[in-house]
Amino acid sequence: MKARPSQEKDFTGSLDIVDLILHDHQPLKELIEVMKDDEATFREKKEAFLEFAPTLVAHAKPEEQTWYLKMKEGKDMVFEGLEGDVEHGLADQLCEELKRTTDEDLFMAKVKVLAEFVQHHIEEEEEEMLPEFRKKTSSEMRGELGQRYLQLQAEIEEMGSDDAPHERLMRLKSGVTTSDYRH
Ligand SMILES: [Fe+2]
Ligand SMILES: [Fe+2]
Repeated sequence: MKARPSQEKDFTGSLDIVDLILHDHQPLKELIEVMKDDEATFREKKEAFLEFAPTLVAHAKPEEQTWYLKMKEGKDMVFEGLEGDVEHGLADQLCEELKRTTDEDLFMAKVKVLAEFVQHHIEEEEEEMLPEFRKKTSSEMRGELGQRYLQLQAEIEEMGSDDAPHERLMRLKSGVTTSDYRH
């Protein structure tokens, strides 16, 4: 399989699930910065959220079905897997609420809570859970999980074609190396 293209300096095209997850956190983190920025306008936050919601789904669902599932099947990280599921569920609920929120002030409040919540979730994954998982598993197994992650991601993005970031879907389907995330 061809290496996945990236504009991020530290991404090497690895299929290791840990590397893929770290890579996919990047666009979420950029959107979070806008969503929690007190200086950003309603319009800017709304635009960021509209990109954030499908990007989050395309990351969180495959993450649950690969990495979280593996943690829950093992012995040492069952609680972390369950905690991750619960946090994803709460983020989903907030996203759904936000899609229905028309009052601007309420939207601004909710979008900030969502941003800070997911930021904390990502920090926990990056600083604690992923390093621990990497230490406890073989690179072969993480590579298999990574392939599964990409497959699921492509399927999810295909199903939600109205919402999905289009360039990314095309890239995953074809393995082309000419486009990357929109910024
Ligand atoms: Fe997660
Ligand atoms: Fe994640």
